[in-house]
Amino acid sequence: MPSPYAGALVAVRDVESLRRRVQAWRREGRSVALVPTMGALHKGHLTLMDRAQKMADRVVATIFVNPKQFGPNEDFKSYPRPEHDDFELLNTAGVHLLFAPDVAAMYPNGFATNVRVSGLSDVLDGAHRPGHFDGVATVVTKLLLQTLPDIALFGEKDYQQLAIIKRLVADLNIPVDIIGVPTVRDADGLALSSRNAYLTPAERAQAPKLYAVLTAAAAAIVAGGDIAQALATAQDEILNAGFSNVDYVEARHGETLQPLKAGEQGRILAAAQLGRARLIDNVAI
Ligand code: PAJ
Repeated sequence: MPSPYAGALVAVRDVESLRRRVQAWRREGRSVALVPTMGALHKGHLTLMDRAQKMADRVVATIFVNPKQFGPNEDFKSYPRPEHDDFELLNTAGVHLLFAPDVAAMYPNGFATNVRVSGLSDVLDGAHRPGHFDGVATVVTKLLLQTLPDIALFGEKDYQQLAIIKRLVADLNIPVDIIGVPTVRDADGLALSSRNAYLTPAERAQAPKLYAVLTAAAAAIVAGGDIAQALATAQDEILNAGFSNVDYVEARHGETLQPLKAGEQGRILAAAQLGRARLIDNVAI
């Protein structure tokens, strides 16, 4: 059913306007949900918007391609920015407010603060993308404090990011509930991602193997198989599927991201390169 608010989306680019709108809703007694994104919206993002609408009276989406979370050799410049399509998708979804600041509004001259969640940010993706999670933690802290929502929603697709955000909100006593939303996948299992646009048709056909391999490894571990053996097999199978490199495939505790011990519940997380795209995925154990 289309949202009764479809077509009423308002976009603002400065913090002042964002705060005015949110404060007006607060005076009316409305609850507010925040959904941060970098745009290039797909069904995964729209599922977060949908969940947000079910959980709160008003939904604020943000689109900001955050330069601080891209490394010097990463795709900040080429990251897709289909602004018009994104606006239409959010509008149709019934999102109430879009906050889309530019870089100067987010990081004015003299900006000097860095939010860093130690430990959690240093492993897995953090070990391969130095500074990445500091950039994420800094921008998410800003977005939370700029908006002051009741809840904020993030995808399990970026599982380590979600764990870091939960930690920083607890550590800094930010008064918001962080909601994790399960990964949305294409029918063949590939996790939806804005970076899937980088895949050639042939690579797109190989890509779902990552999820298939992680699912099989999780099943082997749940069945009592040796963890190290399951991970070694997974690594071989990802390479055999045509990926050029496996940054990591690891079994970790779901909150601490420390190496999983036999019998514990947790997560298998992986990152692997396929053509121009670096794909990440994770499944529950
Ligand atoms: P972005 O990659 O645009 O993702 C925005 C949100 O959508 C994140 O919470 C992400 O986990 C979620 N998401 C992406 N693909 C998904 C999928 N297939 N299923 C479910 N959720 C999915 O993540 C970021 O932006 C940025 O790091 C951000 C948090 C906005 C900070 O800049």
